[in-house]
Parts: sequence; C-alpha cells; structure tokens
Amino acid sequence: MRCLIVYDTVYGSTAQIARWIAERLEGFPGAEVEVARVGEAPSPEGYEAVLVGGPIHRGDQVLESVREYVREYREELAQKAVGIFVVALDVAGAYFRGRVMGGVEYLRAFAELFAAPPIYGKVLGGNLVPPRLTSEDREGLRDFYRRVRATKDIPYRTALDQGAAWEFAARFFHYASR
Ligand SMILES: Cc1cc2nc3c(=O)[nH]c(=O)nc-3n(C[C@H](O)[C@H](O)[C@H](O)COP(=O)(O)O)c2cc1C
Repeated sequence: MRCLIVYDTVYGSTAQIARWIAERLEGFPGAEVEVARVGEAPSPEGYEAVLVGGPIHRGDQVLESVREYVREYREELAQKAVGIFVVALDVAGAYFRGRVMGGVEYLRAFAELFAAPPIYGKVLGGNLVPPRLTSEDREGLRDFYRRVRATKDIPYRTALDQGAAWEFAARFFHYASR
C-alpha cells in the first residue's frame, strides 16, 4: 500500500510525530511510505492511503497551511483512505460552561473540512519549549496562562509519546487495509 503522510509544523513536534508514524507504517509488509511537509507535498493521487496532520496553535484550529492542503485536494482525498492527526497539548479536552473544548473537539472540527469522512483520527501530544517561542507566541501564551492559571510563566511541557504515534499508525494501517 502506498501511503502519504502530509503535515506542517511551526516548532518541529508535528514533524517528529510524522516520522514516528512513518517508521511504524514501514514495519508492515507491502507498505511504501512517503512523508512530506505541506509546501512540498504531492497530490494524494497515486497513493492509496493518506495521513494528514497538523498542530493546534491559535483559535482552536489546525494550522492554516494544513487546512489549505485539504481544501486544495478535497476531491482527490475523497477517493482515498484518509487518516487525520492533530497535535496539541490538550489531548484529553474538557467540558467548560456548556462547551466541549480541546481534545477530540479539535479532531471533529478538522474532520469536517473533508468531503468524505476520514476513516480514523487521533489527537497526539505535542510539546512546549518556552525559549524556542517567537516573541509573538510568547506574548499570546503569557496572556493565556495569566487568564487560566494566574501566572505569567509559560511552563515547559511535553506530551510527546512515540508509543501513541506508533499505535495510531498501526490502527490506521489496519483500517485502511480492510
Ligand atoms: C501560540 C501557541 C498557541 C497554542 N494553543 C494551543 C491550544 O489552544 N490548545 C492546545 O492544546 N495546544 C496549544 N498549543 C500547543 C501546541 O499545539 C504544541 O506546542 C504543539 O506541539 C506545536 O506543534 P509544532 O511543534 O509542530 O509546531 C499552542 C502552542 C503555541 C505556540
């Protein structure tokens, strides 16, 4: 099965996760895997299975460049076995004053962009390394942490999980092979 993994990243964690997914898919006999960042990604044509993934940065949405790829290839993607992954810190999500936020809610919003529903999707944990942030992102996150935690310090956080990425890849391959 020819598999394409398309992703974009700002700070590199989604690229790392895309490589882990590729590593696991390559372990299946007959799998041929290509990983491409959105700017350089080919059309889904010519692949049987396509995974599309991106991080949540602002506004509860997957990175615009990734949504753009989905819009551009809406018709082609509708013919493929598609899997989606969203990279975020809020993997579990929560219910807050009448709304479900984060976690699977990120996935639901992303899935709605596709003309035909993706066959499988997961939220995978990313990371936050404060010294690496642009000053704009640092300001935005300071505001966020001030509001939710009454602190202006941005915490170091990692929810990166190679095992979860491998598990996601294995399940996707199983569903795509049916
Ligand atoms: C400015 C900014 C805003 C973010 N907003 C959210 C958010 O609303 N929810 C969430 O779960 N994670 C949020 N994150 C965490 C990112 O999803 C996480 O850092 C991810 O690993 C980034 O992916 P990348 O390294 O591929 O760019 C935010 C990160 C940044 C830098």
